[in-house]
Formats: sequence, C-alpha cells, structure tokens
Amino acid sequence: MTRANVATDAHPKGVGTPGRARVEQSTLRTDRWWVPPLLTFTLLSAWVIYAMVRTMSQRAYFVDRYDYLSPFSSPCVTASCHPGSRDLGTWFGHFPPFLPYALLVLPFLLGFRLTCYYYRRAYYRSFWLSPPACAVPEPRGAYSGERRFPLILQNAHRYFFYAAVVVSILNTYDAVRAYKGGDGGAGVGLGSLIITINVVLLWTYTISCHSCRHVIGGRLKHFSAHPMRYRGWTFVTKLNTRHMELAWTTLATLLITDAYIALVASGAFADPRIYN
Ligand code: FES
Repeated sequence: MTRANVATDAHPKGVGTPGRARVEQSTLRTDRWWVPPLLTFTLLSAWVIYAMVRTMSQRAYFVDRYDYLSPFSSPCVTASCHPGSRDLGTWFGHFPPFLPYALLVLPFLLGFRLTCYYYRRAYYRSFWLSPPACAVPEPRGAYSGERRFPLILQNAHRYFFYAAVVVSILNTYDAVRAYKGGDGGAGVGLGSLIITINVVLLWTYTISCHSCRHVIGGRLKHFSAHPMRYRGWTFVTKLNTRHMELAWTTLATLLITDAYIALVASGAFADPRIYN
C-alpha cells in the first residue's frame, strides 16, 4: 500500500485498517478538493493576524466625539483605557503594553468560536487536514475523535454560548452609545450604522448556534404542548441552516467595524454624519 497514513503492511492504520476498502491511490477525487481548505486556512490566518495586531496595539480603538468603541477592545474597563471608553467603570489597573483591553471577554469569545460546530469543521479540515476533504484520507494514522482530552473540551460549547449572549449584550450597549452627536446629544453617523449592523449580525450568529437551538426546543416530547418554544425553535432552525455564512459574515463585519473606527480615530477621515 502506498498511502502516507498507512504505517506498514504489518501494522495498518487509519484507512488502511482491516475491513476498509483497499484503494491504492491517495484519493480518487479528480476535482480541486484542496481549494476550500486552502481558502479557509488563508482567510482564517489573515483574520487572526489582523485581530492579534489590533487587540495588542492598544491604539485607535475609540472615537471620543461619537463614542465609537471597537468590538476588539470592548468592554474597556482598565485604567489604561481612554476615559471616555470606560463607561462601565474602571475594574482593573493599568494594562502593560500588548495586553488586549478586552481580556475580560476574549477567553469566552475565543472559546465560543473555537468550539463552534462550524469552525471545528473548518479548522479540522484546513489546519489539521483531519481530513482535508470528503473521500481524502487524513495524513495521521490514529483518530481518537472528540472523546479524549483535549478535544473532549469541545463539549463545553453550550456553556460558551451563554457567555456569548452576555458579550452580545455588552456589544448592544456599545451600539446604543454610538448614537451620540457631535454636541453630546443624540446623533447618527455612518459609524453608528456600521456598529449596529455588526451587532445585529453578531446576535444572528449567536442565536443561530446549535446549542441555542437545543436550549429553545431540545428535550421536548410534544411541540404541540409548547407552541411558543416551537415557534422559537422553528425560527432558530431557519437561522441555523445559515450558520456557516453567518460565521464568515460576522468575521468580516467585526473586521470592517474595527478598521472603520481605527481610521476615524486616527484622523484618516471624518465620520460622515446623517444627523448631528
Ligand atoms: S454551533 Fe457555532 S456558535 Fe454554536
């Protein structure tokens, strides 16, 4: 046998184990199956690099005049934050350079995305090649699934879902604050709309979660006895079919929102105002 994941003929592993079909080629697929994992790898890597640079730079994350706060630095509750961005108070002392201001919520947000059913599929395929595509063998011989440490921790996703709801509430608060005018009263600018669209899509992604679907309609024996939960479950199920698209869309809107605030905060251009 010639496949990389077959250790030796004496000790076959993975797809070379007894009972599996014996195929000499590494895969019988002739299409460009490697394009989706390569694209996912490239886009996710670029996004992570951007997010790391922005969260660790501690610069241009807040527009004082209109209370635009970047989602990458929210909530800003350290003494190092711009005074105007500390609307929720000062909970910590000064942060050293390179420490993200959003450190309070980052572990939960990362946990939510990393354990997400869609992202698991995405990075298992594109980063771990496990497997890179359907009908393409993975390079490793052993497969332990998600039943052992550390991957058994993926089961904590349902708890990260609750944390993500709290973070979405904080993001909603930031969006409401972003309707501040130049004179300190109410106002609407392009930034207010960008921040609002991002928050609406973050909520949509969050409630389209598989765990949310289970929370709303799981373990029910008779939907007819719970009409409200059935309606909620039907709604979430429709959103759930778009979960992958929402996962990518929210990565894009997070980046656009942060980049827009960075440009306005650094004086690259003025925020176009619709009202005040
Ligand atoms: S399954 Fe993706 S966020 Fe829950």
